[in-house]
Amino acid sequence: MTRKLLVTSALPYANGQIHIGHLVEYIQTDIWVRYQKLRGVDCVYCCADDTHGTPIMIRARKEGITPEQLIAAMHAEHLRDFTAFEVAFDNYYSTHSDENRAFAESIYNELRDGGHIAVREVEQAYCEEDQMWLPDRFLRGKCPKCGAEDQYGDSCDACGSTYRPTDLIAPRCAVCGLPPVRRMSDHYFFKLADFAEPLRHWVRSGHVHPAIANKLEEWFSEGLRDWDISRDGPYFGFRIPGTENKYFYVWLDAPIGYMASFKNLCDRTGRDFDAYWKSDATELHHFIGKDIVYFHALFWPAMLMGAGFRTPTQLAIHGFLTVNGQKMSKSRGTFINARTFAKHLDPQTLRYYYASKLGPGPEDIDLAIDDFINRTNSELVGKLANLVSRAARMVGSKLGGLTCEPDPRAAGMLKNIRTAADEIAAHFESRNFNLAVRQICVLADEANKYLEETQPWQAIKTDPEAARAQLSAALEAARLLAVYLKPIIPDFVAKVERCLAVAPLSWASLAETPGPRQLGEFERLADRIDPAAVEAMIAETAADQAAHK
Ligand code: 2FM
Ligand code: ZN
Repeated sequence: MTRKLLVTSALPYANGQIHIGHLVEYIQTDIWVRYQKLRGVDCVYCCADDTHGTPIMIRARKEGITPEQLIAAMHAEHLRDFTAFEVAFDNYYSTHSDENRAFAESIYNELRDGGHIAVREVEQAYCEEDQMWLPDRFLRGKCPKCGAEDQYGDSCDACGSTYRPTDLIAPRCAVCGLPPVRRMSDHYFFKLADFAEPLRHWVRSGHVHPAIANKLEEWFSEGLRDWDISRDGPYFGFRIPGTENKYFYVWLDAPIGYMASFKNLCDRTGRDFDAYWKSDATELHHFIGKDIVYFHALFWPAMLMGAGFRTPTQLAIHGFLTVNGQKMSKSRGTFINARTFAKHLDPQTLRYYYASKLGPGPEDIDLAIDDFINRTNSELVGKLANLVSRAARMVGSKLGGLTCEPDPRAAGMLKNIRTAADEIAAHFESRNFNLAVRQICVLADEANKYLEETQPWQAIKTDPEAARAQLSAALEAARLLAVYLKPIIPDFVAKVERCLAVAPLSWASLAETPGPRQLGEFERLADRIDPAAVEAMIAETAADQAAHK
């Protein structure tokens, strides 16, 4: 039976812009999905904006627009950025949708009917001025541990300690600056511990990376606590059925957004929703960062279990992005937005670089700027683009653009490229993209060495047919390598396909041998990075930050 995959990336908050840290995940997922599609696997990639919560509500208020207007604008911005980085969703939807509301309500109803919801009174800060409940992040005050001023309600940036919002000294509302009052209100809790055993079993059955499974084991032994899934209005979200003024906490309906996005796709394309969410015959893969494991390895599968849905096949968990070995920083100008990056540099350079660093585990990955420039220039441009451009240009300008049967002496080199297919496939499948890139580069070195050794630019003067055969061999190598590169740098490969006058490549193209043909026009594939462009990008980011302080 052919595999059927539903793949998701975490839903980005509608409240912020897409930055290069986010892009680690979207590029990682996109490469994996493109690889599956290249292999002929039936794979769909769904995502959405995560639209609910207090920050969106406050920002819309400040801007004098409705939350709906705000999230519509952000949706367009996010899609623009993803498109620039060639992240190709099959559906990019919104958690503020009819589908999501319906699923959130029905899942909640199932959990309630199953006895998994408890109601308890909770004391919380309330701002009488703004007439709203204040989440921890909307409280500011003095740290109870070190006394630092102007800290959040849950943790201190100065000493790193975490505490309860009631412990914050001289608390103030982050919006209006006035002291809040404390009020009691009923909150709704999901009794996570009801699912401790099946969750533990699920975590141990290979659905998450072993390093993460060990971490989860700690949480299990500490005991699973009830999860507060309600917020009092005013709150931008979905009202909880059977209540007057209680809303689902944003994190309750966010993962349900995976389903909603897929349902929306099903309704447009005729796919069978239940085949993916009610049956284990299909695969469900969630790509996420290590910071949101708790939600995806505990709350989410427990919700699915409680509501009669299948659980995820795999959580693909990545680490954080550092830049030059340090946390991304607004003041240093390394908190780079996708849009700013695309303005100064070619987005495919980031795809290539991330691929060259990504492995299957939750380790952080580093964007080391000098290394990024060097690898782009020496590998992407020097090895990969050059192979095509040298050969194609010479055939185009000196040999009438016609190829012939490849030089038989290149047979060994071409065979090596083909023989690597299974290994490279295994690297893609297991998310060892770094190993795939390394192997592709070794093979490209071999092809470039073949050109250096045969010297068709010499042969062309005396024996143009020999040169044509040598160049055709190099172009055949380029065509094969393009198959391997296609998930990583699809636009580059689309240009190679046009230049080589071949139909869109798939994994099956490795077994084909297209005969002599007239080449298409050569288009520039990749340019060397000028370090000045990187400096300008960082300077613009730092200046933006200073302007918005
Ligand atoms: O951490 C975040 O950015 C969340 N918006 C991710 C949500 S993922 C899913 F559960 F919706
Ligand atoms: Zn206030």
